[in-house]
Amino acid sequence: MSVHSEFRRITTNSLLLSKQKGEKIAALTAYDFITAKLLDKAGVDVLLVGDSLGNVFQGNDTTLPVTMDEMIYHTKAVTKGVERAMVVCDMPFMSYQTSANEAFRNAGRIMKETSAGAVKLEGGIRIAETVEKITENGIPVMGHIGLTPQSIHLFGSYKARGKSVDEAEQIKKDAKALEEAGAFAIVLEKIPKELAKEITESLMVPTIGIGAGAHCDGQILVTPDMLGLNVDFNPRFVRHYAALADVMGLAIGKYVDDVKGQNFPSDKESY
Ligand code: KIV
Repeated sequence: MSVHSEFRRITTNSLLLSKQKGEKIAALTAYDFITAKLLDKAGVDVLLVGDSLGNVFQGNDTTLPVTMDEMIYHTKAVTKGVERAMVVCDMPFMSYQTSANEAFRNAGRIMKETSAGAVKLEGGIRIAETVEKITENGIPVMGHIGLTPQSIHLFGSYKARGKSVDEAEQIKKDAKALEEAGAFAIVLEKIPKELAKEITESLMVPTIGIGAGAHCDGQILVTPDMLGLNVDFNPRFVRHYAALADVMGLAIGKYVDDVKGQNFPSDKESY
């Protein structure tokens, strides 16, 4: 195997090419080694180590408590399970907002310690200078606009964004600013599908939608949501591809019955 073989994986250029060829990009979140391995083998193009781990892994109400150390811990586990996909690590709240230099230092730490292929930041015009600083120093940046969960206390709810003319205009300007600052892709979260279409058509770089309709260049979902593990969370943009909470509940219940009924372990399962 050549020492350069790792670069046969999905890159910013291959994602750009996918957009140019009209091939949709499939992205999902991952937070651990085993899931990352499964997603990669199944052909997922981009694995996002999202700060959504603050919700679905840590059980917090928001993503705000997630730290740099926690993102690095999970991203290290994910990259070990991946051969082909691009791994993108979310920059957590307060790791990039205070200054472009601090953001660059933290982005650099992520790249150095985790083997991720890129970082993701929430925000548009407000963080354009930061995105420029990080990208001009060789670190690919994925943008994220629309509903940006790190701003939940400013928004006051997780409702869709960009429904008013003013907000839609702002989101369009944010998308342009991110592209001009060097972002290689932009997540559009929970905005009207017509707005997502207009933004997608106006950009050279791919858009990855979550609750943003079918016109985006790719789609992303939070993996525990789409696998039916996060049973209390049912927004209309999530399609359940499995009911894993039921499957796991049955299996675990059977194990408990077997242990209590002295049906596990058998002789064959013993030494
Ligand atoms: O943190 C996350 O999982 C995300 C996706 C929902 C895009 O940002």
